[in-house]
Amino acid sequence: MFKKMLSVAAATAALLAFQPAAPARAADSVEVLHWWTSGGEAAGLAVLKKTLADQGVEWKDAPVAGGGGSGAMTTLKARMTAGNPPTASQMLGYAILDWAEAGALADLTPIAVANHWDSAIPKAIQKFATYEGKWIAAPVNVHSTNWIWVSKAAMDKVGLPAPTDWDSLIKVMDKAKSLGIIPLAQGGQAWQEATMFDSVVLTTGGADLYKKAMIDLDEGALKSPAMHTAFERMAKLRTYVDPNFPGRDWNLATSMVIKGEALLQVMGDWAKGEFINAKKEPGKDFLCFRFPGTQGVVTFNADQFVFFKHGSAPLDAGATKMATDIETASFQSAFNVIKGSAPARTDVPDTAFDACGKKAMADLKDAVAKNTLLGSSAQGYGVPPAIQNAMYDVITKLFNGQLTVDQAFAEFPKAIAAAK
Ligand code: GAL
Repeated sequence: MFKKMLSVAAATAALLAFQPAAPARAADSVEVLHWWTSGGEAAGLAVLKKTLADQGVEWKDAPVAGGGGSGAMTTLKARMTAGNPPTASQMLGYAILDWAEAGALADLTPIAVANHWDSAIPKAIQKFATYEGKWIAAPVNVHSTNWIWVSKAAMDKVGLPAPTDWDSLIKVMDKAKSLGIIPLAQGGQAWQEATMFDSVVLTTGGADLYKKAMIDLDEGALKSPAMHTAFERMAKLRTYVDPNFPGRDWNLATSMVIKGEALLQVMGDWAKGEFINAKKEPGKDFLCFRFPGTQGVVTFNADQFVFFKHGSAPLDAGATKMATDIETASFQSAFNVIKGSAPARTDVPDTAFDACGKKAMADLKDAVAKNTLLGSSAQGYGVPPAIQNAMYDVITKLFNGQLTVDQAFAEFPKAIAAAK
């Protein structure tokens, strides 16, 4: 915890201490740091860029490639320490609260109040978009991670019903393997493996185990037989990937499913943005199912934009327009249709969304109503960054054969405790 405070607070102190009069920005321009560099991500971002361009706001792009955003956050820390903040940055979950705690984020409350953000954005998302009663982030969407994305052509060859639980998922993947189809398209990066582990825990012990183990970090849950089963199942999934999975970017795994080379990918619904970008249609070219056995629960990951203080200057015109635009119903619909996520606002009609998008929105509404909208730990919405990274370390070592199931099961609670 102290380490976390140190790195973010130090970066902010450096910013506030060494920040000379903020370099004058051209009126109505925004410099935005983000990691949306895949085809689908860039297509979504283009909607924001155009919305701002139509209002005369110049977009200065500061992309940092690397799915999941850890590279982007490292770059951001370096910029802040150097006293060179962008206007805004894409950010997730607890990282937002860290920067808010360090005093680096501009107050968006006047914009939020004028545009009634409070009534439209789910409370579970607001927990990470507000700090000490002030809005400090503009949520762009609600992605969720407990999905599988299935090649229709490959599934037709497999010839079995859609999997609805762990056992039927294994049956489907075993059949694919017997037909020479790669069962599981996987990117061998820790954030991707951890994203899949979220769903494995969820399907093994339901929302109760997921919340207790992956969010509350309850010792009993972490050391429960169900968690041992989750680690066993994670090791089982390793037997369904192709030999070239190490280091593969998530969108390249998605393209394996798009091309029918692999049966399915376990990934957040940003993967759908890749299918859309490839002009593929749900039901015809691909199928979207909740990770088998996790139906009724949504493990979410909301992309948000934060805006940095520049000295004592108020939020400038470009930033104000960007923060305002993000939460308009028209932008929320146009962007999320392309990005693959549900809108952050629950009052946006699903008219423009395809079947998978409509399902994402319906599942979100259902989860809000049933209180089964749970933060994705892998995506920074379950635990703070230091603990998230400790989880990543154990999960990736298991998936890559550096830890046995028993070793990973024993190491997981220890690594979490050491990171607190
Ligand atoms: C997530 C982000 C998504 C997508 C994904 C892959 O963290 O929320 O919008 O960018 O990473 O890079």
